[in-house]
Amino acid sequence: MVKILKKELLVPNIHFMVLESEVIHLNAKAGEFVVVRPDEYGERIPLNLVDWDEHSASVVFMEVGTSTRKLGCLKSGDTIADLAGPLGRPTEIVTGKKILAIGGCYGIGALYPVLRAFKESGNTVITAIEARSAFLLYWQERLKKYSDEFFEITRDGTRGFTGHIDKFLNWYLLKNSVDMVYAQGCAYLTYLVSQTTKPVGIKTVVGLNPIMIDATGMCGVCRVIINGETKFACVDGPEFDGHSVDWANLLTRRHIYINEERRSLSFYECEKYG
Ligand SMILES: Cc1cc2nc3c(=O)[nH]c(=O)nc-3n(C[C@H](O)[C@H](O)[C@H](O)COP(=O)(O)OP(=O)(O)OC[C@H]3O[C@@H](n4cnc5c(N)ncnc54)[C@H](O)[C@@H]3O)c2cc1C
Ligand code: FES
Repeated sequence: MVKILKKELLVPNIHFMVLESEVIHLNAKAGEFVVVRPDEYGERIPLNLVDWDEHSASVVFMEVGTSTRKLGCLKSGDTIADLAGPLGRPTEIVTGKKILAIGGCYGIGALYPVLRAFKESGNTVITAIEARSAFLLYWQERLKKYSDEFFEITRDGTRGFTGHIDKFLNWYLLKNSVDMVYAQGCAYLTYLVSQTTKPVGIKTVVGLNPIMIDATGMCGVCRVIINGETKFACVDGPEFDGHSVDWANLLTRRHIYINEERRSLSFYECEKYG
């Protein structure tokens, strides 16, 4: 059993949860993830590690289905069944570069340790967080601490730049040059970022979120195609070069498991409905 030291609703449907752990900090690095199981009957689900210290490991999660809803119902002082990690390969932390870092939905939280690592390694960090509307943006002050420039993007224009991330990127990159783009969030966001930066040849690293089962490279469920080669996101990733990802394969495989309510929605319609 693992104790929940703190649980907080950040914005509707997105929670911050601090879990008791004396060991995760010993090996934790930016870009890695943990696997949690809400209760003894639950599935194991992967969540990015957003922070850690000697006594805790933290995650930010969005309620999308059974396990994340179970987690959403818990409160500080409750327990979950398991916490395993850190897992996956850490972000490659470059130095002396100008990096545009992008986060959407739970990826705003996932961006935090990576921004911190980029900034502490002497990079110039431009941060852009995006959501459908202003009330879905969070952690601005936390992220600004490690950002040289900071942008908010809303699709309905309620705050900051109006539009989706592709429009923002086209606008920003017209006047500014960057060495690298880094993105965390739903597959549509990371896909759109990669598609927009590909024609202009800017190195783009994205965190992928395929379905995972064991998260140790054994089951093959998390396979993704990178440069025509099969890779397992849990052990070879979860971050990859966005221009090398076979997006059609990734998005189709994720939709194999989509629930009935959302099955009739196309990829673009799902994006529209958030
Ligand atoms: C490496 C990695 C890191 C992740 N980090 C985070 C994180 O920090 N915060 C966070 O909120 N989520 C993160 N995810 C996604 C998270 O694991 C899923 O949202 C979760 O497993 C869904 O479980 P569920 O039981 O709540 O939903 P389910 O009942 O399994 O599914 C409900 C709906 O969500 C969709 N879904 C299921 N799994 C995924 C998935 N992996 N990605 C997108 N949609 C999915 C299904 O198609 C279905 O429509 C990450 C995934 C990976 C692989
Ligand atoms: S989740 Fe099983 S191989 Fe990656």
